[in-house]
Amino acid sequence: MKKSVLVTGGAGFIGSHTAVELIEAGYDVVIADNLSNSEAAAVEGVRKITGTNVPLEVADCCDREAMDALFRKYAFDSVIHFAASKAVGESVEKPLLYYRNNILSLVNILELMLKHGVKNIVFSSSCTVYGEPDKLPVTERTPRKKANSPYGNTKQIAEDILKDTTIAHPDALRVIALRYFNPIGAHPSALIGELPKGVPGNLVPYITQTAASLRECLSIFGGDYDTPDGSAIRDYIDVTDLAKAHVAAMSRMREGKSRSVYEIFNIGTGKGLSVLELVDKFERATGVKVPHKIVGRRAGDIEKIWADTSYANRELGWKAEKTTEETLASAWAWEKRLRSIE
Ligand code: UD1
Repeated sequence: MKKSVLVTGGAGFIGSHTAVELIEAGYDVVIADNLSNSEAAAVEGVRKITGTNVPLEVADCCDREAMDALFRKYAFDSVIHFAASKAVGESVEKPLLYYRNNILSLVNILELMLKHGVKNIVFSSSCTVYGEPDKLPVTERTPRKKANSPYGNTKQIAEDILKDTTIAHPDALRVIALRYFNPIGAHPSALIGELPKGVPGNLVPYITQTAASLRECLSIFGGDYDTPDGSAIRDYIDVTDLAKAHVAAMSRMREGKSRSVYEIFNIGTGKGLSVLELVDKFERATGVKVPHKIVGRRAGDIEKIWADTSYANRELGWKAEKTTEETLASAWAWEKRLRSIE
């Protein structure tokens, strides 16, 4: 049975790690990426780790003709759709860019899947769909709140598009949407990792760049939240663990184990950590100090969120395995390799 998977956005942070895990699990992978926020070097890293010559097709999912050509060229039986824009702040400034990149690309992929008889799709959703939850931890049944950014809205709309499409085409399509919490870390080989362009917006790249002396001081956004130490709480999931959840989701669909044509799973560790706790763990794991100061809250941030992962653990037979210390050490190893630090 062929096991050819189209991984859109496969040169990106989560996409490249997932490509590795898929290949190691025996799948044929084709990466499609427009390289707008990623580098072809990430695909080189995937090739080195896996000892394969995984193809990179430089193509934009918004370009329907180009994607149609890929569906004709390869015999995909599944898709993992990562390709999207993901910066919350940028989405407020450029909403149309986000609606185009994140929605039009998905519509194209779904139309092409139906046209070419490709049945299975794993979609990159986000815990951002929960907004500021009333009750913690959040389960997949926790109601979604109104999105507080165009980025968050694209994830909600995308989930709705996927659901509506499975209702209309129940025999032709199977979907698993994975709601990621906060992905961090890098592959243990340090050959692939996160590659933010410019000043990092996300916490861990900012920490590693500060540790590498590229930044002077980490600003901790908010010290007056209603949390034990006043800083905000998130559920930080190792990117390799997260990548493995995609392999588990893919097997579930391909083996016909889905309970319904549209399923959702929370992918996190089930544990919340504050920003200050994360900085402390980084310093302990690496022995490197991270100068930091507490500043005002960042607009649009929520106070606290972490996942109830019991449904994913039970149904996908998957759970996060890495310790946060291991994950932070892997992020540091990656940063050191990037900056040629011994
Ligand atoms: C958000 C979204 C997530 C999205 C991600 C993409 C939510 C709940 N989460 O993650 O869905 O995929 O953006 O970028 O909407 N922080 C600092 N200093 C920094 C950077 C961050 O203190 O320099 C703090 C933030 O205030 C936050 C935590 O670190 O409390 C994590 O921030 P970040 O890594 O940016 O991720 P989220 O904003 O949680």
